[in-house]
Amino acid sequence: SSTGGVDRYEIVQRVADREILPGMRTQVWGYDGQFPGPTIVGRSGREARVTVDNELPVPTSTHLHGGVTPPDSDGYPTDIVTPKGWRHQHADAGTGHGGIHMPTDAWRTSVRAKEYVYPLDQHAATLWYHDHRMDFSAPQVWRGLAGFFLVRDDTEQALPLPERERDIPLMICDRAFEEDGSFRYPSLDPSLKGEPGVEEPYMEGVMGDVTLVNGAPWPELEVDAARYRFRMLNASNARRYRLRLEPGGPLIQIASDVGLLARPEELGTVTLAPAERAEVVIDFSRWRPGTAVTLVNTLAGGGMGNVMRFRVTRKARDASRVPDRLADVESLSRARVAATRQFDFRLTAPSGSGSGHAWTINGHPFSTNRYLATPRLGTVERWRFTSDFHHPVHLHLAHFQVEARNGRPPAAHEHGWKDTVDVRPYETVDVLARFAGYRGRYMFHCHNLEHEDMAMMANFRVT
Ligand code: C2O
Ligand code: CU
Ligand code: CU
Repeated sequence: SSTGGVDRYEIVQRVADREILPGMRTQVWGYDGQFPGPTIVGRSGREARVTVDNELPVPTSTHLHGGVTPPDSDGYPTDIVTPKGWRHQHADAGTGHGGIHMPTDAWRTSVRAKEYVYPLDQHAATLWYHDHRMDFSAPQVWRGLAGFFLVRDDTEQALPLPERERDIPLMICDRAFEEDGSFRYPSLDPSLKGEPGVEEPYMEGVMGDVTLVNGAPWPELEVDAARYRFRMLNASNARRYRLRLEPGGPLIQIASDVGLLARPEELGTVTLAPAERAEVVIDFSRWRPGTAVTLVNTLAGGGMGNVMRFRVTRKARDASRVPDRLADVESLSRARVAATRQFDFRLTAPSGSGSGHAWTINGHPFSTNRYLATPRLGTVERWRFTSDFHHPVHLHLAHFQVEARNGRPPAAHEHGWKDTVDVRPYETVDVLARFAGYRGRYMFHCHNLEHEDMAMMANFRVT
């Protein structure tokens, strides 16, 4: 519904049975019981208010990923919406993956429903919303708590890009299943942490053996012999994808995480780390009706490499095209950099106490009251990320441009405005981030959700 410049939405998080594998029932924890959750379409400059009601057996915190959002609506991990009858002792028992110990006042007054306010003072982009509960984001997203949030604006809609039924979001993720069809998420019992061999299977995060697109394994989409726009999101906990078409053909990238590129990039493959988005146009008129075209992940073997297929059905009218210029993307200049900060993402060795490894940023596991940076509102900073491992690094609030990867310009698919950047083992990645929008407490973290739950997160405060 729409009233006086505000769009209101109501979402109920609840348990529901869905058919994901043919003939089987999978219990999902979904926004409105759906997996993926309902796609919300907002308008740039028009406030969206989303009331999230929690009927799940666990607390939640909902974060709009890529949103320029005031701090109290940003889905801070301890800013939880609790189920009826939930007592804080449960939350404080330290049963999470990280076994994080927080000051007892860290948990804000909990509520059963929360109205999240999204001013959407930002350009057209493919955002997504997902759970961000302290210590439990990974298993809760795995069970289904993720959905698309599209922001549209006039500039973008004036472009002759494919639209309506030829503009399709694709949520790509992997999952594993038990024999009875339920989701299989390996239990990470903290009492086992530090035992030899126990952490090893999850070092790279939790991966499944079935690839899902919009919650379906190996789906087929019938397409006209025409151009389509696909908003691809890697919603996996830990898996990376390198996507290409079989039997070949260009993926014309038009947008990255948080908005249109200045110009389209014609690519053979698009790589997506967890949480990254790429919007691509595929022109199916290059194939004869009857042709099957497959989207494959070249980083996975066997059946897992098959992501989805398109069947070209018929010739059709197509007024769309991909213009040579898509958007004015201001390129952030080095001259504007107010500060350079370095953040090292690393697994630290077990401490003398014999407790397990910790995933840290600059040596610190997450703590609600530690700040690793205090950028000033309206400034641009260079943040340099180094790592020992694969870490997709994500900043809340601030959008950034990749300046350099190991001192070289970034790959084509990393152009434009982004909120997540893949940092690979022993790389140095520089981004220029603009801290615009709001003052207050925000976070940045590894978006491998198991690393995130195991405390590879930090606060920054915009002052
Ligand atoms: Cu999509 Cu803080 O995360
Ligand atoms: Cu985010
Ligand atoms: Cu990581």
